[in-house]
Amino acid sequence: MRVLLIGSGAREHALAYSLKSDASVTELHVAPGNPGISELATVHSVTADDPQSVATLAQNIKAELVIIGPEAPLVAGVADAVRAIGIPCFGPSKEAAQLEGSKSFAKEIMASAGVPTAQSMTCVTQEEIERALDTFGAPYVVKNDGLAAGKGVVVTSDRTAALTHALACGKVVIEEYLDGPEISLFGISDGSTVIGMEPAQDFKRVFDGDEGPNTGGMGAYSPLPWAPADIISRTEKEVLIPTIKAMAERGTPFIGLLYAGLAMTSRGIRVIEFNARFGDPETEVLLPRLQTPLAQLLLAAATEKLAAHPPLQWSKKEAVTIVLASEGYPENPRVGRAVTGINEHNDVIIFHAGTVVEADQLHSAGGRVLAVTGLGDDLTTARENGYRALSQISLLGSHYRKDIALTASIAQKEA
Ligand code: AMP
Ligand code: GLY
Repeated sequence: MRVLLIGSGAREHALAYSLKSDASVTELHVAPGNPGISELATVHSVTADDPQSVATLAQNIKAELVIIGPEAPLVAGVADAVRAIGIPCFGPSKEAAQLEGSKSFAKEIMASAGVPTAQSMTCVTQEEIERALDTFGAPYVVKNDGLAAGKGVVVTSDRTAALTHALACGKVVIEEYLDGPEISLFGISDGSTVIGMEPAQDFKRVFDGDEGPNTGGMGAYSPLPWAPADIISRTEKEVLIPTIKAMAERGTPFIGLLYAGLAMTSRGIRVIEFNARFGDPETEVLLPRLQTPLAQLLLAAATEKLAAHPPLQWSKKEAVTIVLASEGYPENPRVGRAVTGINEHNDVIIFHAGTVVEADQLHSAGGRVLAVTGLGDDLTTARENGYRALSQISLLGSHYRKDIALTASIAQKEA
C-alpha cells in the first residue's frame, strides 16, 4: 500500500522506520520530513496544518493510508479533509482531537465516561481562579485550557506563581495534585475498538534528577519492569474503552492514537492528560520493539476493522531512548551547528528530530536534535548501547540526560 505520513520530528522518523519494515508498504511518502526520514521515504514539502494542502498531496500520490503525526494538523482538521476525499486516515477529526486541544473538554468526557482523573475546576475570572486554588491547596496544578506546546502546565507550591500563570491563560483548568509515578500508555482506536500498547515512561525535565524546566521530553524507556502485570488490561478497561465509547456516543468517534498520561497513585490509576497522537519520545522507544506490522495495524484502525486484528506482538528486547538537545534548550536553543559522529551500531537506532543538511553537512535545526534508541536484553544493556552511540556524536554545546532509565535498570538488576 502507498502510505503518506505527515510530520517532521523524531516521532515521525520512528513511525517511518516501523512503516518501512512492514512488507505491505510499497511506497512510503513523508511530508515535510527531515534528513533522517529522507533516507527511508520520499519526502515532500507541505503545509502540515493546512487541510487542503495535505489532502491535495494525498490525492496526487494516490495514498491508500494517511497517518498524521503531530497535534497541530489534527486540531486544524487535516484528518477530516483527508477522509472527505475518501482516503483512510489514522488520526482523529478536528472535533475528536479536542481531547488534546482542550483540557476542559477532556475533563467533561472523562466525567461523563466515569474515567478516573484529578478533580478539577474550569475557571475564567480571578475570583473563580482564587477559589479553585484555595479549594485544592498546594501544590497547585494550573493548566492552560488550549494547546500550548508543552508550556501550558504549571505545578508549583507558590500561590502567587500559580495565580500569575492562571491569569495569563484566559481559560484555565485548576486541579488536585496527583502523586505517584507517571506512565504513558497508548491506545490504537478505530472509533469503537481500542488496543492498548505497552507502557513507557518519559523524562520531561531537562536535567538529571528531574531538575530544571519541563521540555518536550529528554528520554524514555520501555517496558516498565516495576509496573503491575495487568497495567495494559486495567488501562483499557478503566480509561481507554470508556473514553472511546463516550466519544462515539456523542457523535465524534476517535479514530487514531489515544495517548493516556497516567499517574499511578495509591488510590489507583488517574488520567493526567490525553493527547490525540503518538507521544514523543515514547514512540522512539516503543516502535522499535513492536513486531506487529504497523501499516496494517493503522490501516485496520483507519477502516474500522480493529476488532478482527490479532493481538500486538512485542520483541523481548527492552529499549531506552536518550534525546540529544541543543545548547540552551529548552529556553533558547542555539541551532545551525555541525552534527558529526552518527555511526551505525548493532542494537541502536538514531532518529532525527531537528536536523537539516547544509553544504553536504548535517546541522542542528531545533531544540531537540536526535533521539538515540538503544536495545538490549535488559534495561542496563539497552542503556549501554544507547549511551555508547551517543558518546560518539559531536554537536558543540549539546547536552543530554545521563540518568534515563537509570533507577529502573538498577532495580531490575537487583530484582
Ligand atoms: P500535561 O501537559 O498535562 O502532561 O502536564 C505536564 C506535567 O505536569 C505532567 O507530566 C505532570 O508531571 C504534571 N502534572 C499535570 N497534572 C498534574 C496533576 N494533577 N498532579 C501532579 N502533576 C501534574
Ligand atoms: N511525551 C510527551 C508528549 O508527547 O506529549
